[in-house]
Amino acid sequence: MRFDVLTLFPAIFDGFLNEGLLNKALQKQLLEIHLWNYREWSTGKHRSVDDRPFGGGPGMLIGCDPVFQCVEHVQSQAKQLGQLIMLTPDGRKLDQTLVTELAQHDRLLLLCGRYEGFDERISEGLKPLEISVGDFICNGGEVPAMIIIETVMRMIPGVLGDEASAQEDSFSGQMKLEHPQYTRPREYRGMTVPEVLLSGDHQKIAKWREEMSLQRTRQRRDDLLDQ
Ligand SMILES: C[S@@+](CC[C@H](N)C(=O)[O-])C[C@H]1O[C@@H](n2cnc3c(N)ncnc32)[C@H](O)[C@@H]1O
Repeated sequence: MRFDVLTLFPAIFDGFLNEGLLNKALQKQLLEIHLWNYREWSTGKHRSVDDRPFGGGPGMLIGCDPVFQCVEHVQSQAKQLGQLIMLTPDGRKLDQTLVTELAQHDRLLLLCGRYEGFDERISEGLKPLEISVGDFICNGGEVPAMIIIETVMRMIPGVLGDEASAQEDSFSGQMKLEHPQYTRPREYRGMTVPEVLLSGDHQKIAKWREEMSLQRTRQRRDDLLDQ
């Protein structure tokens, strides 16, 4: 799978790409990530990509031309045009269902905004799928793009060491939260591991986990059970 990230701040991704599971997956060539800077498609003397909004108001907007030019160039870099995605607080809210849909694509192009966002004609002309990572405002689309990469890459076969772990995660399959988990030591500051997990009885453990998962979902996110 290929991700193309279009941003004004590609260096934000330096540490992200160089650590952990993502770095391993890149080395194993299970996915590719390409970073692009809109500024390279800005033709003005100062290579500026933003301007004041018509009608007044605070802040600056990313203008059309560098984004259209950059998207067209990036699309031409692979056989498939790919699914274009704009990170924006007014988009469809990201959840595991949407993550699963995104993972069906061979190529995702992620448009990261900054400042007050994008000129509206970028959505109008390029018709991206607009995605929000939640009802809050980040400074830019880079962290939301990382969230998309992190969540989608977990669905790519071979990325997770233990394939079963993705299936057991919260929100996978049935909409339930994951059961509590423990590791060594058996006792820490007076807190102990539930006996059943030490019993070696796999049926009992599975039953306990199922019950705890339901109980936790009921207590913390009963809206999920309605779904
Ligand atoms: C400071 S925000 C702009 C917010 C915009 N003025 C508004 O009120 O909706 C700058 C950029 O960050 C990204 N961004 C911020 N919050 C986001 C969210 N919840 N989901 C996805 N992208 C977000 C978008 O790319 C956005 O263009």
